Amino acid sequence: MFSPQTIPLIQATVPLLKSRGEDITQHFYRIMLSEHPELKAFFNEAHQAQGTQARALAGAVLAYASHIDRLEALAPALPRIVQKHVALGVQPEHYPIVGRCLLRAIREVLCDVASDEILAAWGEAYGALAQLLIDAEESVYAQTAALPGGWRGQRQLRVMRKVRESDIITSFYLAPEDGEPLPVFLAGQYLTLVLDIDGQTLRRNYSLSDAPGKPWYRISVKREPGGRASNWLHDHVEVGTPLKVQPPAGEFTLDEQVRRPLLLVTGGVGITPAMAILEAAAASGRPIRFIHAARHGGAHAFRERVDQLAATHDNVEAVYIYDEPRPDDTPHAVGRVDRELLARQLPPDRDVDLYLLGPRLFMQAVYAHGVALGVPAAQLRYEFFGPTEALLAA
Ligand SMILES: Cc1cc2nc3c(=O)[nH]c(=O)nc-3n(C[C@H](O)[C@H](O)[C@H](O)COP(=O)(O)OP(=O)(O)OC[C@H]3O[C@@H](n4cnc5c(N)ncnc54)[C@H](O)[C@@H]3O)c2cc1C
Ligand code: HEM
Repeated sequence: MFSPQTIPLIQATVPLLKSRGEDITQHFYRIMLSEHPELKAFFNEAHQAQGTQARALAGAVLAYASHIDRLEALAPALPRIVQKHVALGVQPEHYPIVGRCLLRAIREVLCDVASDEILAAWGEAYGALAQLLIDAEESVYAQTAALPGGWRGQRQLRVMRKVRESDIITSFYLAPEDGEPLPVFLAGQYLTLVLDIDGQTLRRNYSLSDAPGKPWYRISVKREPGGRASNWLHDHVEVGTPLKVQPPAGEFTLDEQVRRPLLLVTGGVGITPAMAILEAAAASGRPIRFIHAARHGGAHAFRERVDQLAATHDNVEAVYIYDEPRPDDTPHAVGRVDRELLARQLPPDRDVDLYLLGPRLFMQAVYAHGVALGVPAAQLRYEFFGPTEALLAA
């Protein structure tokens, strides 16, 4: 697939990517967003400022370089990137722009070592990866558009209900203006809203929090202190407001064929996709433990609905943990989801699907407990409400 000299040249840059990868990707974003301001609407400024976007891209570039002689090893990592790109509406014509800016960033950051040969090798390697992603993304775009009610690009949906779920989380029910159907999504997937706020276009992902197959999509949004989109949604979006929406995407989904026990472990607003998964799985008879950590009862969304599902399904059990309970709160436990608490919810043979979502430190802790308690790695599933980060850092 590659010219004979490309593989050794790329491999020779692996140590440099390990030490300078984030410098390269940060420089890359600076170049790209200043020379192509039209792409700003795709990239989240907070993820830029926090460095998580540059780390996720640097991690992917390093993984690619490290596996350049056995690309099949990367296959499990690709669907997450493909789904993220498709969710946001990345197009084939964006790839040459990213490629040019990435090569320039490599040249400018590694100026003393980035020879013409190395840059040519990276140009070839980038082109191959770009084509792989373009093809995989086109296939997902086409499949989504072909679903009953499916579409490609943006569609206008209107807010038909706005419901307060807790002190900080509010749900928005969205339905087509034209009365046409909506495609059935996979429980765990998310929508992308394309918002025009004060003359700036922002794209934000929101998990679908209701059962699939309803004539509406429900998203549930936490008011983020200082957050642009979430505060705008809470304060300015009312029943009747039209919103531009990209179709459901994501691979943090329930596998409905599996019958082994299901453990949903969420913290804070991470509860949203777990609600869709619980709604979709409850009637299957599969044993389900719904473990949710919240600060206190005021911040705890969907308690009534989860209690109702647990009361009407023998296979569903809920466990709530608050770390700062108020005097009238009634959690099952006070504190954090620690190893002992998790161990009590696991079957003795550890053959369980553990779905995990919450703040980064919560996820790192629960993931580490899951691994230490013997949950098979392939059965530990997670999503980040931002760029994917390392989980075993804890
Ligand atoms: C797959 C996925 C699913 C998601 N599902 C949900 C969901 O179901 N519900 C939900 O509520 N959220 C969800 N999110 C998160 C959501 O997409 C938004 O990130 C969230 O609503 C915050 O967006 P915002 O525009 O309000 O905040 P932003 O404006 O993006 O700000 C986020 C934080 O960064 C800070 N910040 C912003 N700009 C800067 C800067 N330049 N420098 C330093 N700090 C800065 C802000 O003060 C704030 O604290 C999901 C994300 C993903 C990736
Ligand atoms: C070969 C080329 C590319 C690679 C290897 C790549 C890789 C990645 C990776 C690893 C992520 C993070 C995924 C995650 O969080 O799990 C990501 C996110 C993203 N990518 Fe790409 N990408 C490429 C091309 C592009 C192009 C052409 C665009 C077009 C504008 C683009 C736009 C984005 C955006 C907007 C995000 C989300 C960023 C965020 O959440 O803040 N990418 N990409």
